[in-house]
Amino acid sequence: MIQTLTSEAAEAVAAAEAAQTVDELDQLERKALGKRGFVAAAKKAIGALPPEERKGVGRAINGAKASVEDAIALRRTTLASAQRALQLEAERMDLTEVPIRPEVGHGHIITQTWEELEDVFVGMGFRIAEGPHIETDWHNFDALNIPPGHPARDGFDTIYVNHGQPGSTLLRTHTSPVQIRTMLDQEPPIYIVAPGRVFRRDTADSTHMPVFHQLEGLVIDRNITLADLAGTIDAFVTAYFGKSFPSRLRPNYFPFTEPSAEYDLRQADGSWMEMAGCGMVHPNVLRAGGIDPDEWSGFAFGFGIDRLAKMKYGVEDLRDMFANDVRFLSQF
Ligand code: PHE
Repeated sequence: MIQTLTSEAAEAVAAAEAAQTVDELDQLERKALGKRGFVAAAKKAIGALPPEERKGVGRAINGAKASVEDAIALRRTTLASAQRALQLEAERMDLTEVPIRPEVGHGHIITQTWEELEDVFVGMGFRIAEGPHIETDWHNFDALNIPPGHPARDGFDTIYVNHGQPGSTLLRTHTSPVQIRTMLDQEPPIYIVAPGRVFRRDTADSTHMPVFHQLEGLVIDRNITLADLAGTIDAFVTAYFGKSFPSRLRPNYFPFTEPSAEYDLRQADGSWMEMAGCGMVHPNVLRAGGIDPDEWSGFAFGFGIDRLAKMKYGVEDLRDMFANDVRFLSQF
């Protein structure tokens, strides 16, 4: 009987060591050590033995039981830790692809362009001037030789502000009112550029936005001529783009300059791109700014900053610049 017990225990130990899952082990445990297992059967059989053999058999039963229990317990620990390792591996998240530090941002493409333009003009000896977004009708129009009823007013799709007399206050339609503010503020000679945001009642499309940016230039000194205007803009374009372009001054009309022109650049494909409105400051504008047109003369120009950025960076659609999608913005 002891031999049978020993071999049954050895078999159970071997089965425990071979078990592949915790389930398998549970089954084995019930089979070997449960009510119908060999240990229980041997315990029942003990009663039929002669008293002098009972002690030895009893000890053998306990030994067999203990060896099976130990084997099962050991295997259970091994299987449980293997299973845990598997589960951990399956649930593991790969954090190596998540950047540890957030990406460092940078200025918007328009801000960058704006600052580059300021740098170029400051390098050429200009100072930076500013004016308010909300303007008086006088600074935006009258002082620029556009009196009430002048047809040029219709050309600017003006957004009026509900303040004071109806039509007296507006969102500036161009940066040209800064010319007036500067003339009223300082004595000539004047060499300023005024970058800024401007507003027009316009529908957004690939080349227009209702809110956009201009860079105004104003030079007032003695004996300033149209040649100074052309030379200054050419020098600026070469500095900004890093190379010179064929350019032309195409006659145009602005109420605040006389003569007036459009400054165009020839692009790689041979087409001409409008870059700026410009001209010699009209005597009426000098007078509105408190400057004597018999003593002083000057020129003014107005660039579209968004347009310059569009051309420099090859952006197809202006609207992309203001949709604020980081995938677009991070390219610049
Ligand atoms: N203010 C004009 C515009 O917005 C541009 C311009 C500026 C033209 C200065 C001439 C001189 O269209």
